[in-house]
Amino acid sequence: MFSTFLLGGICAVVSESALAQTASPRHGDGIADKNLDARVESILRRMTLEEKVGQLVQYSAGQPTGPGTGRTDYDDMIARAQIGSLFNVIDPHEINKYQKIAMEKSRLHIPILFGLDVIHGFKTEFPIPLGLASTWDPSIVEKASRVAAMEAAADGIRWTFSPMVDIARDARWGRMAEGAGEDPFLGSAMAAAYVRGYQGTRLDAADSIAACAKHYVGYGAAEAGRDYNSTEISEHTLRQFYLPPFRAAVEAGAASLMSAFNSLNGVPSTANPFTLKQVLRKEWGFRGLVVSDWNAVGELIPHGIANDGATAARKAFLAGVDMDMVSSLYHDNLQKIVSSGQATQAELDEAVRHVLRVKVALDLFEHPYVDEAAAPKALYHPESIALAQTAAERSFVLLKNASGPGGKALLPLAGGGNENIAVIGPLGDDFSYPGGAPPADAGGGARATPLAAALVQRVGESHVSRFKGVGILDGSDAEIADAVAGTQKADVVILALGETPEMSGEAASRAHLGLPGKQQALLEAIVGTGKPVVLILFSGRPLTLPWAFEHVSAVIAAWLPGIAGGPALVRTLFGDVNPSGKLVVSWPRSVGQEPLYYNHLNTGRPAGDMDLTRPPSDVPSRYLSRYIDEQNTPQFPFGYGGSYTSFSYGATAIDTQRLSAAVLNKDLGAGAGQPAAMTAEAEVTNTGSRPGEEVVQLYIQLLGTSVAEPVRMLKGFRTVSIAPGETKKVKFELRPEDFAIWNDRNQFAAEAAKMNVWVSPDSAHGSPAQAEIVP
Ligand code: NOJ
Repeated sequence: MFSTFLLGGICAVVSESALAQTASPRHGDGIADKNLDARVESILRRMTLEEKVGQLVQYSAGQPTGPGTGRTDYDDMIARAQIGSLFNVIDPHEINKYQKIAMEKSRLHIPILFGLDVIHGFKTEFPIPLGLASTWDPSIVEKASRVAAMEAAADGIRWTFSPMVDIARDARWGRMAEGAGEDPFLGSAMAAAYVRGYQGTRLDAADSIAACAKHYVGYGAAEAGRDYNSTEISEHTLRQFYLPPFRAAVEAGAASLMSAFNSLNGVPSTANPFTLKQVLRKEWGFRGLVVSDWNAVGELIPHGIANDGATAARKAFLAGVDMDMVSSLYHDNLQKIVSSGQATQAELDEAVRHVLRVKVALDLFEHPYVDEAAAPKALYHPESIALAQTAAERSFVLLKNASGPGGKALLPLAGGGNENIAVIGPLGDDFSYPGGAPPADAGGGARATPLAAALVQRVGESHVSRFKGVGILDGSDAEIADAVAGTQKADVVILALGETPEMSGEAASRAHLGLPGKQQALLEAIVGTGKPVVLILFSGRPLTLPWAFEHVSAVIAAWLPGIAGGPALVRTLFGDVNPSGKLVVSWPRSVGQEPLYYNHLNTGRPAGDMDLTRPPSDVPSRYLSRYIDEQNTPQFPFGYGGSYTSFSYGATAIDTQRLSAAVLNKDLGAGAGQPAAMTAEAEVTNTGSRPGEEVVQLYIQLLGTSVAEPVRMLKGFRTVSIAPGETKKVKFELRPEDFAIWNDRNQFAAEAAKMNVWVSPDSAHGSPAQAEIVP
């Protein structure tokens, strides 16, 4: 049912249907297409200095407000070719109005590129990216972003500021919600899938939109998980962890990248020639457009590397930022910077080329307008909503499913129709922004069927009672008492708790990761009734809930599940769907463990998996890398997720115990597409009584290398459907690049090493096969 393929050196797993969709030879090559160049050059030759700078200027003409948005003279500026791109304009009529000025009044008739943060759907909202990644299914991500592209393009938006491919190791950082988690291998597969979905088989198709991989680079490593904070990342960590998803996006043909807010080792990412020029342009050969993040050029002043706007503009421009998002500093200063020789004409032309190439690749010159009458017809197709439901069903992670009445696992619910269900909690019937971030309009929320309503549809009004208990952020003891009383007639309680959508995403870092408001008190009171409780967590990140994991029978991480989250949850609760999602971030026990990630380095004094609740007198040594008041291990490891059935894993078998670094490096030098250097396989048996899907994972560890490498690194994953009692052999291929590390000579190369290889259900289990790489 599933197959493995190689894309740009990254071995990813997709379903056959997705493979069929991506088979076009023109797939993703839009921006790299040399045929665009003649057209781009012919436009460039005719442009004045003012017109060139204009292409590098972007404003937000709609909501939200902020620096650069307060102008009222966009019409005039467009007529004078002083604006290359506008965003946050979502009314097709408005889009056409602006475009008409560009096409009819500006001298060279260069169309405006309209952008928007289309993050997890345009109108049809899918689960947040963290949820989408929890499917471990790039084909779902690709299809979801295809739907987003079709809807957005029909509205006149041809550029999305997505995917966010930042590695996120710290659950305090609210933007963890917008990405694919902590792992570069999975993150790379997801990054490429988003790009394929947005850009389609041809970027110039009317229903394709340009992708923008963001935030380049290291933004997710914000110190203390506080948004916009500084980052310190060694080149080794940058190359092996933070850069690969960007590279995967570039290799999949991403038309653009966004430079990040954070400073990286002291140099703001929006003025960093090493990442923007050396790595992106010289090493990766990127030919698309780099846009700054919101006012990030202006923020070079508070960062402390520029004392005025002209210096900020010059530094960002010379470092390789092509387009200035909203700060207006390119508009105000760039002509002078070039005419005074602080930047060359050639440098200016190159930046303009990057912008024009995207516009030509999108075929905007020939098709600048959107069909206003047709636009609404592309939205909310029943198939799109059905896909959003499938994505939600596959994004849920069953964290716990202990015994309920009669000694059976509590989930799935019996479904005979006789159970009385009490839905309690603030999120039972109010996830009005179902996807998390406020949608482009309220349409998605209005169309969503919340959990309680979906339950009523399933079992009838008379079997569902509803008690809010408390709000997400507020509530009273009296409300809690009402909810407790409301459980009396219930056979089972569905407790829907979590975060408001505004508690994750941008500028939503949290120092406390428990349930907000009085929800913990509600939880303890409801569990205290002795009724069986299913806890459904809605959040943009893992929450630290040790009490819940100890005392509640069943817990599902539902993330922010999108427009069809309610029905998807009901189908999951009743077992129409067997959960198969797995965590893409390590789930902490307490905030003090953050940043917490499975692919960490070892220390000289590892505590391993030792039970650190034992008294110090009972452990071999106190002087280990450990907390004296908390476990080292996460509550749930990366890759973990339960099922209504159970799976057992046989031993990992590899086809060779010995590889040669010299041969691996020779093959590496020959480029991508090299044959497998090793295969690893294991038998996986469904030992339960239901059919189930299992995400089987492949990890390696390298020991004895020139620089310390992680205790485990994901190198493959594959979803298999296994019938009860059935055993399937799951086989992976490891290619030369899978063994390469960023070594002490600052090169990617394979080195002599001892190696552990696991085929396992998550990042913390399984017993490895051993091999070695000889020189
Ligand atoms: C700031 C955010 O960091 C970025 O992700 C987003 O694309 C821009 N604002 C534009 O809205």
